[in-house]
Amino acid sequence: MRVNVTNLTFGYDYRTVLKDISFSLKSGDFLAIVGNNGSGKSTLIKCMLGINKIPNSKIFLDDIDITNYKNFRNIGYVPQKFDDFNYEFPITVNEILSASRYSKLSEDDVLLILDKIGILELQNENINNLSGGQLQRVFIARALMNKPKLLILDEPTVGVDKENVTAFYKAINELNQEGITVILITHNLREADCHFTHMISLHNGEGVFKEVVREDE
Ligand SMILES: Nc1ncnc2c1ncn2[C@@H]1O[C@H](COP(=O)(O)OP(=O)(O)OP(=O)(O)O)[C@@H](O)[C@H]1O
Ligand SMILES: [Mg+2]
Repeated sequence: MRVNVTNLTFGYDYRTVLKDISFSLKSGDFLAIVGNNGSGKSTLIKCMLGINKIPNSKIFLDDIDITNYKNFRNIGYVPQKFDDFNYEFPITVNEILSASRYSKLSEDDVLLILDKIGILELQNENINNLSGGQLQRVFIARALMNKPKLLILDEPTVGVDKENVTAFYKAINELNQEGITVILITHNLREADCHFTHMISLHNGEGVFKEVVREDE
């Protein structure tokens, strides 16, 4: 998916969080967003997902203005984790994944994703019985259920153990190589062993966008 952000300024109430942010991505690009706590990383992606309301003509996904965008099934989103997140109802991993699945992903493809993310054995578990890291991996798998063209990952591996972090980034790299655009927020670029093509550093609301030139190319 192509992404275009042009002169985006956004704030909550009277306080400006993002100042005049512009960048664009082609299909298959991989953007890392970095910056201190409170620098506006999650705010930026919430603008891109239409969660934060913004004026027309600031953000386009595949040339469609986000304010008119309907096809959110093309986007896989792993929101930032909150420790006090609590489900009040019993539902199994399989049920939560099926409920989030609109694409004609074959059963085999679904099992492949569960295997890659390491939750194959958890399919019939009640989500209230999962550990924090296991639940986070269910959210990751959920984001992959609809063959997304754009993946937006907000600190997706917080609470996930080292082995599963490695497996996760391997899967993300593979998806990216298949042409999926990926946007990743992280505080740990080294842990995210990914082939980034672009980077945005946010600081005091300003964003510095740059292309990443790899040394081995
Ligand atoms: N819904 C909201 N209403 C009011 N202010 C908000 C809201 N969400 C975020 N903010 C404020 O906007 C600023 C940016 O928050 P944001 O969550 O985008 O930061 P972040 O870069 O994702 O930080 P972190 O690394 O801690 O996740 C912060 O000062 C925060 O307090
Ligand atoms: Mg955040």
